[in-house]
Amino acid sequence: MGMFAVFGNPIQHSKSPSIHQMFAKQTGIDLEYQKILAPVEDFEAYLSDFFEKGGQGANITLPFKERAFQFVSELTERAQTCGAVNTIRKLDNHRLLGDNTDGAGLLLDLQRLGFVSPSSKILVIGAGGATRGALLPLLEYGCDITLTNRTFIKAESLAHQFSVLGKIQSRPMEQLISAEFDLIINGTSSGVAGEIPKISPELFSQQTACYDMFYQRGLTPFLSFAKQHQVNKLADGLGMLVGQAAFAFKLWHGVIPEIEPVLKELKKELE
Ligand code: ATR
Repeated sequence: MGMFAVFGNPIQHSKSPSIHQMFAKQTGIDLEYQKILAPVEDFEAYLSDFFEKGGQGANITLPFKERAFQFVSELTERAQTCGAVNTIRKLDNHRLLGDNTDGAGLLLDLQRLGFVSPSSKILVIGAGGATRGALLPLLEYGCDITLTNRTFIKAESLAHQFSVLGKIQSRPMEQLISAEFDLIINGTSSGVAGEIPKISPELFSQQTACYDMFYQRGLTPFLSFAKQHQVNKLADGLGMLVGQAAFAFKLWHGVIPEIEPVLKELKKELE
């Protein structure tokens, strides 16, 4: 039986073990999947130990994605582009391949929701690790992305860095005052503190879709704000979580599982 695990700190509330067990059941693959709380100072030692003891694959979550990027011996193009690794696969030659499935998971969820097409004009709010991990698949799909951030210079620099990969530009938040975007994605961590980015409600219309990479029980602060301003196409990051797991599953087992039944189950657990 294959041995898999998710590494993070904290890790107690990780849904990855139950998501991967649901995928395993769906596809008839037998696997063991544990949660490993790695001490901040010893992450690399814990990871090495796991693979030496026969581990075949790992997911990496906060705060270790950049350290996993440094640790692995090979990288997929998308991991290389975003500078962070959320999935590791042990190769036949015992080398470790680092991938990043966050952006692909987001795109899969947006497609499932009908929130995106190759001609979509998208506003992405935030310029931290979550945004960096999400951009490449959206750009490759053809979307036209505008980046904004509380600290504008970070959006400017991220947009500049990704500009060779597709249509992307940055604009200061205070200059965004009309409903010109098909989709607005909140990639900030503001929801963790119960806050919302200071965006103008003029950005919203009944045609606008809003997606929050964050999720919680009930609507996130950003989605509540959008709902108050006539948006009814709303979704949180639970689907992205299942989507990134689906692409990790594909990297390890060669099949992409269905996300809808798993998402339904997780939603029930959150109620
Ligand atoms: P993550 O890995 O979750 O992206 P991060 O790299 O620390 O975390 O980035 C956090 C992002 O959320 C940043 O874009 C940050 O904006 P700043 O660059 O201005 O700090 C954004 N953010 C966090 N709290 C916010 C808030 N209350 N309002 C607006 N943006 C916020």
